[in-house]
Amino acid sequence: MGVAPLQLRFVLSAPDVAELPPTEAELAIVGRSNVGKSSVINALANRRDLAKTSKTPGRTQLLNLFALPDGRTLMDLPGYGFAEVPAKVRARWPAMIEGYLLGREQLRAVVVLIDAAVGPTANDLETLGWLRAHDLPVQLVATKHDKVKPSKREARRAELCDRCGVPRGDVLWVSSAKGVGIDELRRRVLGWLDEPVQPTLP
Ligand code: GTP
Ligand code: MG
Repeated sequence: MGVAPLQLRFVLSAPDVAELPPTEAELAIVGRSNVGKSSVINALANRRDLAKTSKTPGRTQLLNLFALPDGRTLMDLPGYGFAEVPAKVRARWPAMIEGYLLGREQLRAVVVLIDAAVGPTANDLETLGWLRAHDLPVQLVATKHDKVKPSKREARRAELCDRCGVPRGDVLWVSSAKGVGIDELRRRVLGWLDEPVQPTLP
């Protein structure tokens, strides 16, 4: 049975975690610029323009919050590896993103998107290392499944899991463009939002 599209609504864009409203539980969508973070939000909601997307990396420039009817939330973040964003804007991002990830107490999971066709980049691996070092609960999702030739998919899946240091088969593959895996992603998103918050170490 399919899962109904998530009834997400846009709440607000903020430059700083301190300006975000409190919520019950939140997931953050993290990944390279252009990996398809905003497209995944749209696919979850089955809406075309809920989150702004673009061919040009650097479309999402603030902390963009989306809410389910029950008040649980998803965060669409700017990407990393964003060469086409003016240096002045870009310079503010690491502090904004890290401040958010370390300061948002109701974060249930950080969903890291990896481009299935490009594989984990050095930037992706650095981000994974940083998240793990800070004990943030990471879930991996590979995007743009449609861009990998069917004959290459099995090898790419294995390689992606190996390089990210997770058990083979632990990464959900999706295509926002073709709808592949989106039903399962909706199911998992709702499940991750139900997870208890990890206790932080003293
Ligand atoms: P930033 O906001 O710049 O960090 O990018 P983003 O990660 O939010 O990426 P976005 O969703 O804006 O998508 C970037 C580009 O990839 C757009 O041109 C999308 O149409 C395209 N794209 C996203 N998902 C898919 C997919 O599943 N398949 C294909 N072929 N293209 C996709
Ligand atoms: Mg975006």
